[in-house]
Amino acid sequence: MAAVIVQNMSFKAGQTLTITGVPNTDATNFAINIGHEQDIALHLNPRFDAHGDQNTIVCNSYQGGCWCDEIRGGNFPFQPGQEFKMMITFNAEEFQVTLSDGSVINFPNRPRDTKYRHFKFEGDARINGIEIK
Ligand code: GAL
Repeated sequence: MAAVIVQNMSFKAGQTLTITGVPNTDATNFAINIGHEQDIALHLNPRFDAHGDQNTIVCNSYQGGCWCDEIRGGNFPFQPGQEFKMMITFNAEEFQVTLSDGSVINFPNRPRDTKYRHFKFEGDARINGIEIK
C-alpha cells in the first residue's frame, strides 16, 4: 500500500489544507491522517467497499495506541477514477472538512492541539496536490 508522508508541515488552527487526488479505479478505501508522530487527530477514511462499509466516510482519532470512537456518515462524493478535492480547516474544538460537493464534515479536535505536523495519505488513491494557506 503506497503512502505519502509529510513529517514537518506545521498545519496551524485557522489555516486551510487543500488536498486533491484521484481514487484508483478499483479503490476499496483510502485515508488522510493528520496528527503527531504516533497519534492521529483526524483520520478521514472514505470507504468504497472496506471493513464492511460501502460508500461511507469513517472518521476517527488514534490516541494512546487505540482507535477512539468512530463518527460516520454524511455525503459520499467520491468516485473511483474521478478527482476529488478536500479542504480541511480546524480550531481547538473541531475539524471542518469541505468535500467536492460542498458538503461539510465536522469532527471533534480531540487532542485540542492548535498545530499539527504529521500528515499521512494512504490507500487506494493517488494524491495530486497538498497545499496549506
Ligand atoms: C479500523 C481500520 C482502520 C481505521 C479505523 C477507524 O477498522 O482498520 O484502518 O480506519 O477502523 O476507526
